[in-house]
Amino acid sequence: MKTAILQEEFLDYFDMGYITLKTEDGSLTLKKNSSDSEPMHSLKGALTESLYIYGEAVDLFLESNSKDSSFDILSLGTGMGYNEIIAFTKLLKSNFFDYNFKSFESETHLVDLFLKRIESPDDFPEYFKLFINSSLFDRKESDSVLFYNTIKSLSEKIEFCGAFNEAYVKSLNYKKYLILFDAYSSKTSESLWTNFFLDKLLKKCAPGSCFATYASTGVLKRALKENSFYNKNKAGFAFKRQSTLAVKL
Ligand SMILES: C[S@@+](CC[C@H](N)C(=O)[O-])C[C@H]1O[C@@H](n2cnc3c(N)ncnc32)[C@H](O)[C@@H]1O
Repeated sequence: MKTAILQEEFLDYFDMGYITLKTEDGSLTLKKNSSDSEPMHSLKGALTESLYIYGEAVDLFLESNSKDSSFDILSLGTGMGYNEIIAFTKLLKSNFFDYNFKSFESETHLVDLFLKRIESPDDFPEYFKLFINSSLFDRKESDSVLFYNTIKSLSEKIEFCGAFNEAYVKSLNYKKYLILFDAYSSKTSESLWTNFFLDKLLKKCAPGSCFATYASTGVLKRALKENSFYNKNKAGFAFKRQSTLAVKL
């Protein structure tokens, strides 16, 4: 992996006040250029962590629902778009079509930077090579052609919805949801991790819904249990003891 070249593709993030950090699997993560900010991913491997926590949640959700299921994906924290690309690729490969894909990001410039990449993938070859060379694809050569041809359609399929908040949860219908909950920790995004908020969100989920996040807290565990989710008590990534992967019964 030529990290120097990969990092050169991310100079526009630097201009917006972020620094890139190389993680152990060769992929990059971002951090605001201030001393009190947290990196977006584990330094043990940004893409590997995303595939483990959120990619496996997509797999579980698709395996446990039929191809004609209608559902919404709620991806909280667009960030660098790893979860968007992972989920979209898996959905395409599995022939699920009846879904709405909503991605939430409170920092609008991060959405613009991600859109720039999916609208012109040829300008960011090292970024997209990360995905092609990952476990998302088995036959790298032919898959890469398919990948470049389809990734542009992600910008048409995905709806960018701004910040995820209580007002948005209130507006949700009762429906099947795949929730990729990656909008930072309870320290940084406190309101999203309260029992009040989580309970309201989980009540909107119909059976078959799936909730995944890199962390596990007592409040979240209780809210899942009270809302009939089966929590698989999945091990956390790298140094983290536990993550969360739960399905509504
Ligand atoms: C851990 S990063 C997300 C990484 C991302 N999933 C990826 O694949 O690269 C967390 C992101 O959540 C965003 N965020 C924080 N609070 C939010 C909220 N209430 N709604 C939407 N996004 C939020 C932050 O701006 C940040 O970009």
